[in-house]
Amino acid sequence: MAKYKIAVIKGDGIGPEIVDEAIKVLDALASVCDFDFSYKELLMGGNAYDITGDPLPQETIDGCLEADAVLFGSIGGEQWDTLPRDKRPESGLLRLRAALDLYANYRPVKVYDELIDASTLKREVIEGVDLLVMRELTGGIYFGQPRERTEEKAFNTMVYTKDEVKRIAKEAFESAMRRDKRVCSVDKANVLEVSQFWRNIVEEVAQEYPEVTLTHMYVDNAAMQLVRNPKQFDVILTSNIFGDILSDEASMLSGSIGLLPSASVGGKVGLYEPIHGSAPDIAGQGIANPIATISSASMMLRFALGEEKAADKIDQAIEQVLREGYRSKDIADFGAKEVCSTTELGSYIAEYVSKSS
Ligand code: IPM
Ligand code: MN
Repeated sequence: MAKYKIAVIKGDGIGPEIVDEAIKVLDALASVCDFDFSYKELLMGGNAYDITGDPLPQETIDGCLEADAVLFGSIGGEQWDTLPRDKRPESGLLRLRAALDLYANYRPVKVYDELIDASTLKREVIEGVDLLVMRELTGGIYFGQPRERTEEKAFNTMVYTKDEVKRIAKEAFESAMRRDKRVCSVDKANVLEVSQFWRNIVEEVAQEYPEVTLTHMYVDNAAMQLVRNPKQFDVILTSNIFGDILSDEASMLSGSIGLLPSASVGGKVGLYEPIHGSAPDIAGQGIANPIATISSASMMLRFALGEEKAADKIDQAIEQVLREGYRSKDIADFGAKEVCSTTELGSYIAEYVSKSS
């Protein structure tokens, strides 16, 4: 029987609460499938800094590299915001992405039919939305050198190499081949050299995928089009910072940022995490929505472990729970039969998973 090694980084804020629910669901899955999981908890973020003085201890990198996949909650909180940049929780996450070479960040956006009214947008605009933000994750302005801050001025550098653009573009075209065969590359080529460069290389890569339709869009227009007519998009290919911003925007198409998963891949071991943050304001209250993390566990099964059927079971259980009117507080106003705590919602999903055949 296969035993998958999962590195677990619970992190800060609501991280531990939501990851616990994903583990509950994975264990329920193991009870009905012919595989099992072993978990190894690792530290990252503010809690890691508090305990070890480093937001990303070497032990965590090593532990991740020994695992089949990494399941991650969230990091950050006000108490760490005044630390020097390299000690901040966010630096831990950025360094981990770089250390694991996770250059491709998949952020799929689907609208659950049951939650259409939870979106601030009109039903006809979002019904049937199914898009993927393919965000470059280890380059661009997040990592570019030089960077500096003095009393008088500060700067960061947005830089991409040819290889960096090529590999993320390939990832986007490959994904499009498995979807609706459309890639929209989002940049700011009317202003930025780095974006014109990005655009040229994406055009080059497109030659290898004659079946895929490639379009380009400026990021300001893309931000507008995402709320005007999101159904026009299939795969949105974009850089690190534009992808960060657009994926938060796109998440609201689904009604709550608490619903959307992500997968960060490229290197030997991938990392699976909700796209939302650590929500310190609601941490410890048992009201966080665990669905984004549970759904990330499903992506982990699909991407890292090749367990497609098991992933389907999780996705179906989430849909069933929503269909039957179980809601966490963030989506309580939309079709709730029962408003659930974080653990209750996790338990319902786990229950449906273990009942699935
Ligand atoms: C995300 C987050 C991170 C990012 C932060 C926490 C560093 O916002 O995963 O989208 O900006 O990439
Ligand atoms: Mn973000």
